[in-house]
Amino acid sequence: MLKLLKSLADPSRLRLTAVLLRGEFTVQELTRIFNMGQSRISRHLKILTEAGVLTVKCQGTWSYYRVGAGNDFFNAIRPALEHELESLSERAEDLAALAMVLEERRRRSQEFFDRHARQWDDLARTLLPVPEYRMQLLKQVPINSAILEIGIGTGGLLTELAAWSSKVIGVDHSPAMLEEARRRLENGGVRDVELRLGEMTHLPLSDSSVECVVANMVLHHAADPATVLAEIRRVLVSGGFLLLADLARHEREAAREQLADQWLGFEQTELESWLAAAGFADVLCERIEGKAGQAAVLIVKSRK
Ligand SMILES: C[S@@+](CC[C@H](N)C(=O)[O-])C[C@H]1O[C@@H](n2cnc3c(N)ncnc32)[C@H](O)[C@@H]1O
Repeated sequence: MLKLLKSLADPSRLRLTAVLLRGEFTVQELTRIFNMGQSRISRHLKILTEAGVLTVKCQGTWSYYRVGAGNDFFNAIRPALEHELESLSERAEDLAALAMVLEERRRRSQEFFDRHARQWDDLARTLLPVPEYRMQLLKQVPINSAILEIGIGTGGLLTELAAWSSKVIGVDHSPAMLEEARRRLENGGVRDVELRLGEMTHLPLSDSSVECVVANMVLHHAADPATVLAEIRRVLVSGGFLLLADLARHEREAAREQLADQWLGFEQTELESWLAAAGFADVLCERIEGKAGQAAVLIVKSRK
């Protein structure tokens, strides 16, 4: 207890804790948020980690720091601490800097997809898992429900979803990818699918407006996955389903450059804890092993 309290008894470490309660960041990102040198940030992170306030998530050569849940004493004082940290004098400034770093992550992904829209199908064919798992995903989509697909890419899955229901909306934040999807739908004679330009953290839909949200291979592009899951829940009707397919944790670091991946896949436990925090229930997760050295896929079904 003494070690933990001592670690928090420092203005910079309180600010760091306050920011890391809002998301996961690398040392480099934290140096930008706080405008502090790397060695100073690293020293504070070490003290907080050793005291059990923070944990480190390693993804390839990158390490993300986040507030941990493994220390009982910290968990007990966390609600009061979180409340007090809101009134730190630098709070507004720190939140603005944090938003800027998340915006950089988001912009990097959008620029990548705008630039590679035309070649995306070829890139995906060689670098993403064989889409056999998609049938597992599609089988779980309730027939004739109002469906939203987020991050539609060039519309491959969207075209298949259109056979499931006459009320399908697709959202993507890349105008170039939306254009490719529009072309594919037209060429396939698929009508009645509505395409909308939008961010998965601010979906262009009203509250409780769809019965099923499908997110296939998109969460690993999210600047802040937990926020996306909360936003998905907002647009689902009560009892509506989220169907998510994404990469299981892998070590293919090249995916950051080749595919603009923000996250090298996910652990089942972290998806489950984000879903629980966002208020989802009945989480079912299935792992499908990749063939011929391909990454494994996690398929998650969950209810609002
Ligand atoms: C790998 S592709 C998804 C493929 C598609 N779901 C499928 O099944 O064929 C990822 C897509 O997510 C979109 N995307 C990435 N970040 C996004 C965001 N923050 N908001 C909306 N769309 C996003 C990208 O523009 C891209 O089209």
